Amino acid sequence: KQDTEGAFLLERNPDCASHDERAGLIAAPGFGRVFTDHMATMRYTPDRGWHDAKIGPRTGLDMHPATKTLHYAIEIFEGLKAYRLPDGGATLFRPDANARRFQSSAERLAMAPLPEQLFVESVRALVRADRDWIPSAEGASLYIRPFMFGVDADLVPDPASEYLYCVLANPVASYFKSGDKAVTLWVSDTYTRAAPGGTGAVKCGGNYAAALVAQAEGKRQGCDQVVFLDAVERRWVEELGGMNVFFVFEDGSLQTPPLTGTILPGITRDSLITLARGMGLTVREERYGIDEWQADARSGRLVEAFACGTAAVVTSIGEVKGREQAFTIGDGGPGPVAARLKSALTDIQFGRAPDPHGWLDRL
Ligand code: PLP
Ligand code: COI
Repeated sequence: KQDTEGAFLLERNPDCASHDERAGLIAAPGFGRVFTDHMATMRYTPDRGWHDAKIGPRTGLDMHPATKTLHYAIEIFEGLKAYRLPDGGATLFRPDANARRFQSSAERLAMAPLPEQLFVESVRALVRADRDWIPSAEGASLYIRPFMFGVDADLVPDPASEYLYCVLANPVASYFKSGDKAVTLWVSDTYTRAAPGGTGAVKCGGNYAAALVAQAEGKRQGCDQVVFLDAVERRWVEELGGMNVFFVFEDGSLQTPPLTGTILPGITRDSLITLARGMGLTVREERYGIDEWQADARSGRLVEAFACGTAAVVTSIGEVKGREQAFTIGDGGPGPVAARLKSALTDIQFGRAPDPHGWLDRL
């Protein structure tokens, strides 16, 4: 035990990757496959509350086969990034917003809430311990994955009472193998992602498990990602499996689906709305139908569409395909409004521009 960050005791990994090993791993990390030397962990029990907060060597987890989560998916997670600044320092982007969303996810799954401050401290402490893993290549960053699950070892389908909270970090480059090219979407008419009253507005592993079959169908159809429609009318465009969506019109205005409880309230979405309005653009949070999307793309009323999220940042949508749709947006390539918003966002995140909204949490 050498150091503390708030509640988190640091126990250094005696087998850290060497400088050269680390440099090799950071150089071509892909997404979500390369992990840093440490992880944060903390436990919850009803009698002790949150305790045993530490940053320690990244190790495996030992679990009873009846661990409730393996049977009933009592699991939530978050995703945020640490960025390398021009002066060599590092920063997080809106970790308080992730902390609040983690709380609402916990509440929806009847899990113990994690105080906002402990969430932020855990992320800060892990990134400080593994700061050498933050890439400095253009566009690369350290993706941080806080998650929590019930550890009670019984098969009773009731809320868990004990939890393990854990944070992993991994260096990442571009989320899409295609880099900055526009992506192609598959319109899922067989599957929906979330229904009213369900868990669509929170970040639980179960939402992603249920979307994988649609994503696989999209891949078979030659598309990069799936776009989901609402579960009731099968008409309104909701979001992608891991990204929110924006539409850009000929008159320069933007539109994005409203937060009606079936889509994830993305922090990138929220940040882009603020940035776009700051540029004087009109942004509507209103429903948009798949048929309108096709008609508007064909008539030229719709000039761009893009997806956004922590992992994917801002990615233009070039083409949309489905059993009843096939259309190209603009010239099928990346669009200028997406590019401008992406620059505005990443210039703040990487410390190349001022941070007027106080979004950065420098480490
Ligand atoms: N929608 C879904 C389903 C997601 O998984 C994500 C990624 O976290 C997003 C949207 C974008 O959210 P954020 O911008 O907070 O990363
Ligand atoms: C994110 O952008 O943080 C996501 O969670 C998307 C995906 C990797 C699940």
